[in-house]
Amino acid sequence: MYVEPSEPHPEIPLAGGDVTEGVVRAGDTVRRPVGPNAPLVHALLRHLEDVGFAGAPRFLGIDAAGREVLTFVPGEVAGRPRPAWIADEERLASVGRLVRDYDQAVAGFVVPAGVRPGYGVSEPPGMPPEPSYPAEVVGHMDYTPDNIVFRDGRAAALIDFDMAKPVARVEEALNAMLYWAPLGDPADADPPLREVDVPRRCRILADAYGMSDVDRSRLVEVALLRARRSWFSMKQIAEERGGGWARMWDEGVGDKIKRREAWLERNAVAIDAALHAV
Ligand SMILES: Nc1ncnc2c1ncn2[C@@H]1O[C@H](COP(=O)(O)OP(=O)(O)O)[C@@H](O)[C@H]1O
Ligand SMILES: [Mg+2]
Repeated sequence: MYVEPSEPHPEIPLAGGDVTEGVVRAGDTVRRPVGPNAPLVHALLRHLEDVGFAGAPRFLGIDAAGREVLTFVPGEVAGRPRPAWIADEERLASVGRLVRDYDQAVAGFVVPAGVRPGYGVSEPPGMPPEPSYPAEVVGHMDYTPDNIVFRDGRAAALIDFDMAKPVARVEEALNAMLYWAPLGDPADADPPLREVDVPRRCRILADAYGMSDVDRSRLVEVALLRARRSWFSMKQIAEERGGGWARMWDEGVGDKIKRREAWLERNAVAIDAALHAV
């Protein structure tokens, strides 16, 4: 149980995320409702603290209201509308390095016995199978601009570990590319990212992350499989969870995923070439 300071701080709502209602700041802490993946996330955050990884909030306990208490990470998060700086290639490279450092810090973390990772959503019928590459790390897997805190123009910390799960490392690099290259139809991109050179940005991320040649050659294949699967999983999660997920579905996220799949098919060769060019 988290022990409150004698002088309670006022609670300030934190906007920015898509789905978690009731995220607030109180003094130097953040309070969030405990999600279905919390047993994994709390163990993961403790591991990151043990290994001295500076790029994540600390887990401080559960408060009297049953919310998780995290340290507030100072800095700047890309809100909406997206700032022009999300197109900056230096910042992009810093995102790749932060993901690399996180994956290195988490490498020794083993999912505790009895903890089942995941969002607790069932696999809908018709969903194509997962890519067959075995898990290598407990990935963060939600590298949206809202989940990366910048300081001095560099990606400094990750927040929001709700999507963490064991994955192959290619999935981590892919997830960062999804939001930061970004991988999708330019018409669906945030305005600062509509006219960027996406294959070039994939390469910048891959190099900063230190992506292996083998993972580079798997990237497009895994991206296409993930796009096909995510249409099913987003639909399912919208139906089972409602809330922000249902809102996203109603706003057309399913069609956007279909356009991403088509765009990936059209750009597969260019992305592959950029990742491998010497
Ligand atoms: N530990 C933290 N330190 C600083 N800001 C945070 C922290 N946790 C959340 N926030 C802020 O609150 C927003 C929403 O929180 P987040 O945990 O990402 O929820 P969601 O699941 O809705 O995305 C973030 O985009 C960020 O601006
Ligand atoms: Mg978030």
